Amino acid sequence: MMLKKIIAGLLVLLSVSGVRGQFPEAKTALDKKVESFLKEQAGQWRDMNVPVADGRILYDLVLSNNYRQAVEIGTSTGHSAIWIAWALSKTGGKLITIEIDKKRYLEALRNFRKAGLSAYIDARLGDAHEIVPQLPGPYDFVFCDADKWWYKNYFVAMELKLKSGGCFTAHNTSMRSDEIREFIDYIKKHPGFKTTFDSTSRSGISVSYKK
Ligand SMILES: C[S@@+](CC[C@H](N)C(=O)[O-])C[C@H]1O[C@@H](n2cnc3c(N)ncnc32)[C@H](O)[C@@H]1O
Repeated sequence: MMLKKIIAGLLVLLSVSGVRGQFPEAKTALDKKVESFLKEQAGQWRDMNVPVADGRILYDLVLSNNYRQAVEIGTSTGHSAIWIAWALSKTGGKLITIEIDKKRYLEALRNFRKAGLSAYIDARLGDAHEIVPQLPGPYDFVFCDADKWWYKNYFVAMELKLKSGGCFTAHNTSMRSDEIREFIDYIKKHPGFKTTFDSTSRSGISVSYKK
């Protein structure tokens, strides 16, 4: 009886901490490679990278909507890009990801190779303020995780390039700053988008679906 209670308690702890079931079921050789890379890297993402639970949210969004043309603004060393590209490896899509810092960009390239996902990622080094407005489109998925004060501008630069049914997601929307507030206000009031917030993400992820 006592042992049963201890096991039940442990299971609750594991599910709350996100350790249990954080990885999708590994079905292919690539799944196993990505999962083994992510397990090796656990606890070593130190460049403002998303937590594993948020990576999984992005993975699920891409896969469940069958998105194929994705853009990430703010690669850093590649944690979120790996989750997005992992899902794209299943939908037949590709990710463009943009980073301004050369050291992080080069480390991201190494991480993409180690995870076996380089073929699904077009990593660009440069200023997203310039690159994003020049992206041709159309796209069906955007993950915005770079300079918070420019979020609204990134959205404005991407809104016409998003396909109907596509979505613009943004990280750290729980942050209490004027820039994030201005961005949230804009997306919530936008008549062309339906915005929700993923309540399971501690940092906050907004998901704005284009009508
Ligand atoms: C929060 S980190 C991104 C974390 C990454 N999405 C992950 O989870 O692995 C933000 C990144 O955006 C980059 N960044 C900031 N301003 C940028 C800009 N104007 N253009 C491109 N990248 C930018 C920063 O150098 C930083 O690496």
